[in-house]
Amino acid sequence: MAKVISLVNQKGGVGKTTTAVNLAQYLSKLKRKVLLIDLDPQANATSGIGINKHRLPATVYDALIGRVPIRDVVMVSKSAQYSLVPSNPNLSGFALEIAQQPSREYILKKSIDQIRDYYDYILIDSPPSLDLLTINGLVASDFVIVPVQCEYYALEGLSRLLETLSRVKKALKPELKLLGAILTMYDKRNRLARQVVKEVQENFPGRVFESIIPRNVRLSEAPSYGKTIFNFASFSKGARAYELLAEELVNLEKESK
Ligand SMILES: Nc1ncnc2c1ncn2[C@@H]1O[C@H](COP(=O)(O)OP(=O)(O)O)[C@@H](O)[C@H]1O
Ligand SMILES: [Mg+2]
Repeated sequence: MAKVISLVNQKGGVGKTTTAVNLAQYLSKLKRKVLLIDLDPQANATSGIGINKHRLPATVYDALIGRVPIRDVVMVSKSAQYSLVPSNPNLSGFALEIAQQPSREYILKKSIDQIRDYYDYILIDSPPSLDLLTINGLVASDFVIVPVQCEYYALEGLSRLLETLSRVKKALKPELKLLGAILTMYDKRNRLARQVVKEVQENFPGRVFESIIPRNVRLSEAPSYGKTIFNFASFSKGARAYELLAEELVNLEKESK
């Protein structure tokens, strides 16, 4: 049965989507069956692998409102080796439309439970907020990974994020486990970045993944070609970093057995 992992940080631009897409890719390379669920109305994880978000017959939104079963929304793109539940801007209506519904935090979980058996990993790319969508993602997840950008304000907002996690744990999902932080956009020439790494390591109550993702222009170019970093620049530093991260994640599982 799949391990479900949410990538969460209410800050935008910290590397959630880049990590979701490329981690999904390299977990697939390790022969794991992977599904990525795009839970962001901006749909960057969808368009980033070359899927036209305006031409989709159904998206995660249709599954959430119960119009179609989630298995009918799963697609495979030519430019990625994993399966995707795509998104589009319709999803931004979800929170309002569903606000009155009882057990509104469990809607995604119920969908995922129908298809969990088919995958080894289900990754959820969250929007840059801590709203009902992100909460749905968390309630559906076993684990949380927090991408943290190596910049001055890296730790800002982290306490609110951790509070939200413990609230979700207490009220909605006691099994939810904070797996750790992934440091992204690291520039080793920058003294400040090295300082941030140290601070995050000191402050992070989960753990910090050893694989640090460097700032690498190839990683930012790949989505505009509709490709994962493996298919775009497999020998780049960014590719190597995500390959190592996938290995680290898989090994973590072996350790905990
Ligand atoms: N390691 C990296 N090196 C260079 N650019 C990156 C890196 N990670 C992400 N980016 C770029 O930074 C921007 C924000 O990243 P993204 O993954 O979309 O963040 P989020 O999903 O948290 O909003 C994007 O333009 C992305 O291409
Ligand atoms: Mg994103």
